[in-house]
Amino acid sequence: MVDSKKWVLMATAQTPTNIAVIKYWGKRDETLILPVNDSISVTLDPSHLCTTTTVAVSPGFEQDRMWLNGKEISLSGGRFQSCLREIRSRACDVEDKEKGIKIEEKDWEKLHVHIASYNNFPTAAGLASSAAGFACLGNVQVYLFFSLSFIIFVFWGCYAYILKVHWWKIDDDFFSLAKLMNLKENPSQLSAIARQGSGSACRSLFGGFVKWIMGKDENGSDSLAVQLVEEEHWNELVIIIAVVSARQKETSSTSGMRESVETSLLLQHRAKEIVPKRIVKMEEAIKNRDFSSFAQLTCADSNQFHAVCLDTSPPIFYMNDTSHRIISYVEKWNCSEGSPQVAYTFDAGPNAVLIARDRQVAAQLLRRLLFFFPPNSDTDLNSYVLGDKSILHDAG
Ligand code: DP6
Repeated sequence: MVDSKKWVLMATAQTPTNIAVIKYWGKRDETLILPVNDSISVTLDPSHLCTTTTVAVSPGFEQDRMWLNGKEISLSGGRFQSCLREIRSRACDVEDKEKGIKIEEKDWEKLHVHIASYNNFPTAAGLASSAAGFACLGNVQVYLFFSLSFIIFVFWGCYAYILKVHWWKIDDDFFSLAKLMNLKENPSQLSAIARQGSGSACRSLFGGFVKWIMGKDENGSDSLAVQLVEEEHWNELVIIIAVVSARQKETSSTSGMRESVETSLLLQHRAKEIVPKRIVKMEEAIKNRDFSSFAQLTCADSNQFHAVCLDTSPPIFYMNDTSHRIISYVEKWNCSEGSPQVAYTFDAGPNAVLIARDRQVAAQLLRRLLFFFPPNSDTDLNSYVLGDKSILHDAG
């Protein structure tokens, strides 16, 4: 390492968030973040729903520090340190001949990092922001993302976006700590590190549909994420996120699931008896692009997750009246069509994630949402539409 306090090495990564269609809720090991069941998710468009993290390292830094959306946060919790420890222990030599900087494996132990992370969506409003955040730290070199369209529609006096997802690669420009420290691990191995920051984060290391295998090892070595199908496998699907409230949730996922593990009998039954069978069926539905089964399983699993929250003592309420009205509305629509057209799922918050079977259904859905849940009349919807505006046009 050069004997100067003047150099700083930096790397930036962008990582998407993911939405679970079979939920992770409950840990069997709090420190290693080992779940009580497998889960399956879909990765969202990183160009609009993502966390951007820049990591800097310099001999001039006296301690590890982190800023989230411009505000410094405490790193005293064990999670960040676990991630950092794991990444440091795998770090390799890095050399920049032009600048005359050489960092050897052993040097990483002594170097401190500064991390600045920005979410471009509401933090802690139940849109799995921690999933993107911790995945970003362990981000890898190459991603191929899912070919889906996304619409974010904000009810009640707000705005709507329509986001078109297309194919792209995140190449070597998109790296962060793992890249900075020259890690050689593959995405699944890195997912096991991201998992120790936040469980759901491990699923953001891949595009498309992703399964987090709970694993059996006590040390967590086999608790990692795998991609289930190629990204373009089911590209007719359109995801609409109805942001009912961007307020920070009252009970964090971490403490909510801890309370559920301690008090809910339904959680035990779900983890042992229900989810293993559901995972098999969900994998089959995804492979066969069987929307009816997919929608039925997605809605049932979301409802059961919220039932576990109600079965927790004291009960946890993540959904609100608008969330319930959206569920009723989708159920009635699906019933009147004779087969599911739209699936809904809610994470630890009131915001609805609606998955339409195709673009035509998505346009119809958006039209109906605008009618039944109109935004404020003084909102110019078009001015908030990003990306593919044609779905809004289709919606009338
Ligand atoms: C409801 O990953 O945020 O979104 O592991 O404690 O950080 P920690 O929890 P977190 O929980 C996410 C829970 C969920 C369901 C899911 O994403 O599977």
